[in-house]
Parts: sequence; structure tokens; C-alpha cells
Amino acid sequence: MENILVTGGAGYIGSHACKALKTAGFNPITFDNLVTGWKDAVKFGPFEEGDLLDRGRLDEVFAKHRPVAVMHFAALSQVGESMQKPGKYWRNNVEGSLNLIEAAASAGCKRFVFSSTCATYGDQDNVVLDENSVQLPINAYGASKRAIEDMLRDFEASDGMQSVIFRYFNVAGCDPEAEVGEFHQPETHLIPLILDAVAGKRAALTVFGTDYDTPDGTCIRDYVHVCDLVDAHILGVKWLKDEKGSRVFNLGTGEGFSVREVMSKAASVTGKPVPCEEGPRRAGDCTKLVSGSTRAEAELGWNPQRSNLENMVADAWKWHQTGHYDK
Ligand SMILES: NC(=O)c1ccc[n+]([C@@H]2O[C@H](COP(=O)([O-])OP(=O)(O)OC[C@H]3O[C@@H](n4cnc5c(N)ncnc54)[C@H](O)[C@@H]3O)[C@@H](O)[C@H]2O)c1
Repeated sequence: MENILVTGGAGYIGSHACKALKTAGFNPITFDNLVTGWKDAVKFGPFEEGDLLDRGRLDEVFAKHRPVAVMHFAALSQVGESMQKPGKYWRNNVEGSLNLIEAAASAGCKRFVFSSTCATYGDQDNVVLDENSVQLPINAYGASKRAIEDMLRDFEASDGMQSVIFRYFNVAGCDPEAEVGEFHQPETHLIPLILDAVAGKRAALTVFGTDYDTPDGTCIRDYVHVCDLVDAHILGVKWLKDEKGSRVFNLGTGEGFSVREVMSKAASVTGKPVPCEEGPRRAGDCTKLVSGSTRAEAELGWNPQRSNLENMVADAWKWHQTGHYDK
């Protein structure tokens, strides 16, 4: 069985990727420092505790497991915090990724799948966001991800590193079998925040900004189911193994939902009202982020199956009710 090194495999998306890798016949090796991840989410392969900032530890893990590819999920990803503490983001995400890419290159592992983000596009109203769109991030988190994309291009020129870069839109939902799920501490993602409010685990959902230039005044995002998203990563590994070369893909559905539309779906799925209060806009939030590309479907053969809002909220609600949120 071929080993794939999964950085951030103890986190939300990484743990779902490990499950998908195992199902696809790979052995996922999780590398994680548990800064925002959970050891009990590492269920589908070995765990190597370590920090991306520790180059020696990375070299040890590459030597021990000889992975055929890297899936790089590990990062800090809170937009608001990145505006207050940009150094923390540049150090962890950019310096950490530099260590990882150098360690992979020197171990001869030249296949790299990277979690980038639509936050690299910034706030471009009325622009169709496809992979050729100009990247103008408006927060330090997005800037750190754009820098890593640039880094991968430089290491392709110098070392032949082949990369598949996925720019995710908003990832949502959970494993429908509820073996793994979403649990960020603190939580900043809309659907788990709504479900916490529905379940009485927080007093109310705060809607940040109700005066955006959208039909109901709240921000619009493109939500993609985590299981569909990680399926694209498996296709990304296959793409690299088939030597198809470095490529960037947006991962979104092309359909946007406002905060109020998501709240209304959650109320109908759970059968309960969503307590909410209105707050001011948050620094770093864009009005609308929706993918305008079908490249992943056309070229990778990606076929998202669960990315409708109903499934995403229902799967998240099922996970929410397992009690993992009570940790
Ligand atoms: N969740 C989304 O909607 C979304 C959208 C766009 C992009 N992304 C990207 O996807 C990736 C995964 O996101 P997530 O929501 O699963 O986040 P997460 O916080 O649940 O997972 C990140 C994991 O990385 C680990 N990590 C962080 N820094 C590390 C370091 N220096 N060394 C080792 N491990 C470290 C954490 O402990 C955690 O387990 C991130 O790169 C994020 O930027 C997520």
C-alpha cells in the first residue's frame, strides 16, 4: 500500500481526507501538532506528531514512511485572527510550508497536493472567479496561501516539484457515517455556529454585517461538501501519478448562499429556530465568493455528489448530535 503524508490529518478536512485515502487503497500518514486538531480524529492510519516548523522532524518522517505524495492541509486559517496577528500566520503557514516543501524535495517526493483558498482572490465584486482570476487577498490568511502557491511554482522550476493546488470555497458538512466531523476551537465556520445556537450551546448566532450589497444584506458564499472536496484530492493524487503536470483547480459548486439562506435551511433541517443577533461587519470579510469555474469537473473528472445545502446541513447536524462538540 502506498503511503501519503497528510499534514493536518487530525483536523476537519484532513481527517476526512484520511478516510477517503484509506477507502481508495492508500495508507494515510498524519503529521500534525494538534494545535487545532484532535488525536482521536486520526483513525485511518499512523499518527506522527510534529510541527511543520521543526524541519528535522519532517526529515525523520519522510525517511521513515517514504510517501509517494503529500497532501498539505496543515495551516492556521482564521481570517480575523490573521488580521490581528499576521506574523503568526506568515510563520506557521509560509515558513512551515517552506520546511515541508524542502523536506519533500530533498526526500525525492515530488507530488504535492495543496489546500489553498478562494480567500486568495480577495473581494472582487461582479467578477467571475476562475483559476485565471487575479489574486488580490484582503487578509493575511489569504496572502499566506498565495505566497505558498508562488513557492510551489518556484520549487517546480528548481526541483521539479509537481503540484495540484486546490482553491477551496467554503467547506461544509461532515462524514455521513459520522466517524469524523468538524470541530474547530474556537469555531468560526457558519454551519457549526448555527447548529450550536440551535442546540443552545451558544446563546445566539452573530450575523456579521447586514448591509452588504447582496439581496438580503448578508455575505454570500459557495459551500462544498467536505466528502466531495476530499474526493477531488484523491483525483489530484492520481493526476500527479499520471504525470499530468502542475495545475490549479477551484473547488466550489458555482452556487452562492447568503448567511440568512443558510440559517433558514438549518431551521428547516433541524425543525428548530436559529437564535441570532446582528453585529457589525468583520475586518477581512468579502461580500461574495462564488466559484466561476468547472475546470475540476472537466479535467479531473470531479463529480460532486453531496454538495447541496440540505445534505451539508443534515450531515453536520448528524455529527453535531454525536456529542463530539461537548469535548
Ligand atoms: N474549512 C474551510 O472552509 C477551508 C476553506 C479554504 C481552505 N481551507 C484550508 O484547508 C486546510 C484545512 O482546514 P481545516 O478546516 O481542516 O482546519 P483545521 O484547523 O481543522 O485543520 C488544520 C490542521 O493543521 C494542524 N496544524 C496547523 N499548524 C500546524 C503545524 N505548524 N504543524 C503541524 N500541524 C499543524 C492543526 O493541528 C490541525 O489539525 C487549511 O489549510 C485551510 O486553510 C479550509
